[in-house]
Amino acid sequence: MEKPDDAGVYKLNDETALVQTVDFMTPIVDDPYSFGQIAAANSLSDVYAMGGRPITAMNIVCFPIKDMDISVLRDMLRGGLDKMREAGTVLIGGHSVEDQELKYGLSVTGLIHPQKVLARSGARPGDVLVLTKPLGAGVLSTALKGGILDASSLEAAIRNMVLLNKEASELMQSIGAHGCTDITGFGLLGHASEMCLQSNAGMKIETGKVPLLPGVVEFARKGVLPGGAYRNKEFRLPMVDTGSTPDWMVNVLFDPQTSGGLLISTTPQRAREIVAQLRERGQPTAAIIGEVVAEPKNRIALV
Ligand code: CO
Ligand code: CO
Repeated sequence: MEKPDDAGVYKLNDETALVQTVDFMTPIVDDPYSFGQIAAANSLSDVYAMGGRPITAMNIVCFPIKDMDISVLRDMLRGGLDKMREAGTVLIGGHSVEDQELKYGLSVTGLIHPQKVLARSGARPGDVLVLTKPLGAGVLSTALKGGILDASSLEAAIRNMVLLNKEASELMQSIGAHGCTDITGFGLLGHASEMCLQSNAGMKIETGKVPLLPGVVEFARKGVLPGGAYRNKEFRLPMVDTGSTPDWMVNVLFDPQTSGGLLISTTPQRAREIVAQLRERGQPTAAIIGEVVAEPKNRIALV
């Protein structure tokens, strides 16, 4: 294990390495079936971010059995199982404990060719950056908690979070990429910063090209933002040249995502191919959002 990455990789032989990850979370939507799908998609994502193929998974469940109806547990696990099926991943076990607060997630094992691991450290100057899913899940879930989220934005947020990064991961493996990470709790700029530091490069991000979920602009302008966005900003803003980007947009770029998209670093031609294919396959907001530059290193310029 050298630099920290989305998942642990353990080489078995020259052909095969294991990719292993674990993730679990508290509910961010009320519907247990949707939450189960989101938690599973989120847990599977770190394997996809390495370019791996998830093969087996185990459930991790914390459940308040005294206060919550057992049907909630059933529906949540059904949501998780449906996502594992879609991923071609077999549930082989799990563990549950009684807890005051509901939590769910998976430990996932995947396979990858040892030479085809897509690390965060793989970004190269001259590459462009593909973002496969729109941002704003944190903003919208904050609006949901505040009781001010409209039904159509909620539906769009859920649809986005339950979407597996499977297709994007398979495309970057077949078309070719240099590096990848998934956008989760640290927000786009948090995870992009990690990629810069580990790749010893800089980035330019065209904020006008970054896809956002519906309703995010309005809420972000009103200051509807999860606490995590401010913590992410405080941590990584020193690496970012914000230029003339409005503050609300900078906040959105630090918005923590749940089951966010992949940030893929690859050649311009391959990036265009990945985006075109993703758009054809039902991910219409996938976009090239910026580029990797040699200098200044470890800086992200917003343009
Ligand atoms: Co990750
Ligand atoms: Co993770």
